[in-house]
Amino acid sequence: MRRIAVLTGGGDAPGLNAVIRAVVKTAINVYGCEVLGVQDGINGFLEPNGIFPLDTASVRGILPLGGTILGTANRGNPFARTIIVDGKVVVDDVSDDIVEAIHTLELDAVVVIGGDGTLHIASELFDKGVPVVGVPKTIDNDVGGTEVTFGFDTALSIASEALDRLHTTAESHHRAMVLELMGRDAGFIALHAGVAGGADVILIPEIPFRYELVVKKIQQRAKRGSRFSLLAVSEGAHPVGGDLVYSRAGDELALPRLGGIGQAVSKYIEAQGIESRVVVLGHLQRGGTPTAYDRFLATRYGAAAVRTAAEGRFGHMVALRNGKVTDLPLEEALKVPRRVDINGDAVQTARGIGISFGDD
Ligand code: F6P
Repeated sequence: MRRIAVLTGGGDAPGLNAVIRAVVKTAINVYGCEVLGVQDGINGFLEPNGIFPLDTASVRGILPLGGTILGTANRGNPFARTIIVDGKVVVDDVSDDIVEAIHTLELDAVVVIGGDGTLHIASELFDKGVPVVGVPKTIDNDVGGTEVTFGFDTALSIASEALDRLHTTAESHHRAMVLELMGRDAGFIALHAGVAGGADVILIPEIPFRYELVVKKIQQRAKRGSRFSLLAVSEGAHPVGGDLVYSRAGDELALPRLGGIGQAVSKYIEAQGIESRVVVLGHLQRGGTPTAYDRFLATRYGAAAVRTAAEGRFGHMVALRNGKVTDLPLEEALKVPRRVDINGDAVQTARGIGISFGDD
């Protein structure tokens, strides 16, 4: 391996810089290899100043930093890049241009750090002959093939701290406090933070809920003398037979944006005579310094990605399986996205300690 590139795509997640640092250091220290950074995701290959050298000095001090020094983008799929030209929507496939740019740069490997969407693009580029290695990233923890993505642990810590803080104010004012959390179609953040932060109700996309059963739980608590409740609500949660709630509809350029289910739940609760407030934690879950767990995992993933490339296993993604960092074909990893196992021990544990999922 003489020259490799590294890029970050999709929404940012705490630990991206730790992966970049590990990729650069391992490539230089172990393989004496040159490393290039790609600006703002895969399309950086086509930008005039989109490629730049990375050496050990460029990654100094970035381990505890949130975000990504490379920049990222969560739109602009090169296989169907949508842009507005003269007020008109134009869809363009620029994947061949990307492949050509990679060949021109004489890259021996491209390390793609991304979530489900970016890794799908990486897999398609691999099919076109690009020597890619994927690294699974996302606070949502919804990438298949791995037990955990980096970024999740940090988001979880922020979310459970938010529940701790809401606990005291909920108790003082005898209110039902609703915390809306990220996660898209996966309820991991709400489930894990809800258990860790002592929520009384957890609503997740995998378990459709009934409004009246949420209220029943709050009333039962009140009868037993607990005149407050904490609700952890995943942004993708929805009532039985009901739709997801979006804060912004999708259009030609952007995907629909989830948001608003927390408000809907809080409103329903208030209509039943229980005072309620809602907090949307939003991007606080993605920003700031990664936890030690995420820094360690991200560093292991970055180093493993370089080893995987050096050993020629392209089209693979690094992953944590049975506690060990390993790798598997991207195609296999991406076949089934990860979702909360509704019969698994986490849900069973939550139910056992009296948490309601709004379904009984
Ligand atoms: O996938 C990560 C995530 O933070 C989701 O949990 C959330 O729905 C989405 O990204 C928000 O994306 P954006 O940064 O475009 O608002």
